[in-house]
Amino acid sequence: MLNFSFCSPTYFEFGKGTEKEAGALVKRFGTGASGAGAKILLHYGGGSIKKSGLYDRVIASLKESGIAFVELGGAQPNPVSSLVYEGIELCRKENVDFILAVGGGSAIDSAKAIAAGAVYDGDFWDFFCGKGVEEALPVGVILTIAAAGSEGSVNSVITNDKTQEKRGCGGEVLRPTFAILNPELTQTLPPYQTSAGSTDIIVHVLERYFSNTKEVEVTDRLCEAMLKTVIYETPRALENPDNYEARANIMWAGMVAHNNLCGVGREQDWVSHGMEHPLSAFFNATHGAGLAVICPAWMKFVSKINPFKFEQFAERVWDVKGVDEGIAAFEKFLKAIGMPSSMKEFGVREEDIPKLIEHVGVGEEKTFGSYVKLNASDTEEIYKSAL
Ligand code: NZQ
Ligand code: ZN
Repeated sequence: MLNFSFCSPTYFEFGKGTEKEAGALVKRFGTGASGAGAKILLHYGGGSIKKSGLYDRVIASLKESGIAFVELGGAQPNPVSSLVYEGIELCRKENVDFILAVGGGSAIDSAKAIAAGAVYDGDFWDFFCGKGVEEALPVGVILTIAAAGSEGSVNSVITNDKTQEKRGCGGEVLRPTFAILNPELTQTLPPYQTSAGSTDIIVHVLERYFSNTKEVEVTDRLCEAMLKTVIYETPRALENPDNYEARANIMWAGMVAHNNLCGVGREQDWVSHGMEHPLSAFFNATHGAGLAVICPAWMKFVSKINPFKFEQFAERVWDVKGVDEGIAAFEKFLKAIGMPSSMKEFGVREEDIPKLIEHVGVGEEKTFGSYVKLNASDTEEIYKSAL
């Protein structure tokens, strides 16, 4: 096991009806002059929260706690920089000192980027070009989809809609101060989003599970527990979208999968995410669906070079024997939950592959990943096999 630091101070309010605590939690974790979110920005997505009635309940809770707010909706899946600029301007104009994100990874990531940009003199995009985030407005979250894990993570992922680059940034200050997780809120998800969310959760674990660091048994076993849970619960949630227990287990697994509990003490890989981002950036692929295509293609390539972890994956996660059998079981599962298996489903053609590789930023000498280090030719081979 390698040395590590781990600090995950997000306060979680989990369970039925917990969105009614929004006002009280903003008061508790806000930093306004009164010691309580003097004015907050309510940030959300494309309208699902209005349709479900969640928006009205959140507004009622804020009003009940006497919290002043301004609002900005419209964070789209694969959130874009232009809305972040708009949010930053609004926060400055209105003296906002706390941001409440209501929605999925997209609304939360957009909120985090606004939070960092609002207190920074330069262009917020600097943070997505390698500058660490040292300061940000505090962010609180009401989660409506189990997927990205942004409710407990230090990351934000934004697409620059001028250059079409999809990039991430990170900083401990971006970890939400609180997150309300009510599994009931996820019962209105379309099946495709439920499945894409579960796939994202699974791949967040796999990016950490496929590591060359030996004997990190506690982390391995935790990873396997998260994988087995999501594999068991996703078909149950698809079969009966109102299955509260299935939704609850998936929702908590989504947080545990990505606040780095499943990654500490070892090297991590992150090739599948790196290779998926251009699919979202150029083809607006749903992130989890893109991973469903890329991750198995990556597995087939790297397992030939480094089979080390794949036997264990097959046996402990899928209860089968053999490297190829484990990967086949994973593919079968993805198909059963309705995920795509080819990049063609997003409109990618062979001639697009060079621009995908350019977006990944890999070269013949410049490799990425750690389970197996990959160069541009390897990346091209994986993309071709995913067509
Ligand atoms: O925008 P609305 O109308 O809310 O609709 C959303 C959106 O269309 C809908 N939805 C969400 N909750 C719903 C619902 N529809 C009905 N009922 C509900 N309860 O679902 C669609 C997808 O929402 P989105 O927020 O985009 O989903 P997700 O949580 O998968 O977020 C994806 C984004 O997160 C990034 C991805 O790259 C992508 O941009 N990621 C962020 C990470 C992080 N910050 O740590 C890590 C991840 O690896 C990921 O990269
Ligand atoms: Zn992801």
